[in-house]
Amino acid sequence: MTRDEARNKIIFALDVNEFSDVEKWASLIADRVGMFKVGKQLYTACGPVVVRMIQKYGGEVFLDLKYHDIPNTVAMASLEAARLGVKLFNLHALGGYEMMTTTVEALDREFRGAERPKVLAVTILTSSNEETLRAVGIDRPVPEMVVRLAQLAKRAGIDGVVASPQETPLIREACGKEFLIVTPGVRPAFASADDQKRIMTPASAVAAGADYLVIGRPISAASDPVQAAEAIVEEIMAA
Ligand code: C5P
Repeated sequence: MTRDEARNKIIFALDVNEFSDVEKWASLIADRVGMFKVGKQLYTACGPVVVRMIQKYGGEVFLDLKYHDIPNTVAMASLEAARLGVKLFNLHALGGYEMMTTTVEALDREFRGAERPKVLAVTILTSSNEETLRAVGIDRPVPEMVVRLAQLAKRAGIDGVVASPQETPLIREACGKEFLIVTPGVRPAFASADDQKRIMTPASAVAAGADYLVIGRPISAASDPVQAAEAIVEEIMAA
């Protein structure tokens, strides 16, 4: 794998809530990582202008807002995400088949064959376990639900999923090699686990089949973030 290919696999989790931090990180590492993940906290605090700020520094954006609503509402929100020029955004597969197909159809109508953002589905949040599912009336094991929702998303035309490194091989097998898999919970050999419980190194996550790795604190909390990003690139290249 080339250095650029390895770099493009890194999605830096921009877990901050102020413009000044966005500017700091975008200017520091836009050319060291493939993408910036903007989530609910930052987007709620600062809005779409954050996306434009990252783009101004040459960065690409994964808009992690995990849409889950009636089909028309999710489709309309998704069109706005696409118009912002984000490269990836996501929705909850639990919103159902129609919510997902309506969204993909709306995007395809708008883009008419031109390159559009890729849509990812969240299957079962990694914060949920079997007990969480049982309490909401789902009586199935977590891995079975993950695969079932990933396959439903694929049938609906969704481009990929967000999944834990442990789920990656199962999903890869069930959904094929074109289906995108984005995994958080990645910890390079040099970093601490923080609050992540089921971690994998960048090399093993890529070897397990991940297309992109979401990485936050191993870069943001490093004494030299640029060097940490480069060290992660090296680890991915070694995969
Ligand atoms: O700092 P760290 O590398 O743990 O950041 C991981 C990012 O991925 C955070 O934004 C976190 O919310 C997100 N994430 C996660 N585990 C999931 C889904 C998302 O850590 N299952």
